[in-house]
Amino acid sequence: MSPSILEVRDLNKVFGGISATKNVDFDLAPGAKEAIIGPNGAGKSTFFALVSGYHRPDTGSIRFDGKEITGQKPHEIARLGISRAFQVSNIFPRLTVEENVRSAIQVRRGKAFDLFSRADMVGLERTEEILSLCNLSPKRSRPAGELSQGDKKKLELSLALAGQPKLLLLDEPTAGMSIEETKETMELVDRLNATFGLTILFTEHDMAVVFNHAQRITLLHRGQIIMTGTPAEVRANEQVQKIYLGGQA
Ligand SMILES: Nc1ncnc2c1ncn2[C@@H]1O[C@H](COP(=O)(O)OP(=O)(O)O)[C@@H](O)[C@H]1O
Ligand SMILES: [Mg+2]
Repeated sequence: MSPSILEVRDLNKVFGGISATKNVDFDLAPGAKEAIIGPNGAGKSTFFALVSGYHRPDTGSIRFDGKEITGQKPHEIARLGISRAFQVSNIFPRLTVEENVRSAIQVRRGKAFDLFSRADMVGLERTEEILSLCNLSPKRSRPAGELSQGDKKKLELSLALAGQPKLLLLDEPTAGMSIEETKETMELVDRLNATFGLTILFTEHDMAVVFNHAQRITLLHRGQIIMTGTPAEVRANEQVQKIYLGGQA
């Protein structure tokens, strides 16, 4: 057994008397591609926010890549290698697609972004690589604010990749996308995992997408883990069917 890249123990977070995260134990192996599912309000986004440092847990511990990261700040956790995608606020709407990616790469290197300076070659190469991976090369000169919803999401994914993560957290990466854009985005997720060995944890509403792209699935309900299993195990689980089909479990 390889050690976990992410090790969460007895994690708890209460908001106004409601447990958004309750006694959560969770492990992710390096190179895994897994999904967290659960109805609205189950605690999926809170879990991602806790792991990436945007919320502080009330109790419990989070270890990443062998280091305790509980209570660390988002930028410290990002620097250690966890990127959380799809925070629209990361996009500078007036900069072009390419400028957004270049600026994210420079921030990662601790340099201030200067559009008019001669960018170093490594940064340029990495920008090209990311634009091409995310199928954004044809739109490189467009102001980011003018992109379609699907292309904005691709750009957000590009910005997460610019941080050179070891673990990518994708919170509903295909929300608001067309069927075609969803397919393209999930193929990219597969490629990032298979070709670059990136560890990926994603949430997703569309069960067909989850079953097709996750190696293992964890079901959250009211902040608690109900089960973890392969797509076949989750599909056959009665509690999963109750929670999804019956509304309440
Ligand atoms: N910042 C917050 N302040 C107060 N309550 C919150 C906050 N974030 C989430 N919650 C509550 O925590 C629960 C889990 O929410 P969330 O993690 O967004 O679920 P999901 O992403 O699975 O839909 C919900 O009851 C939600 O209302
Ligand atoms: Mg959510």
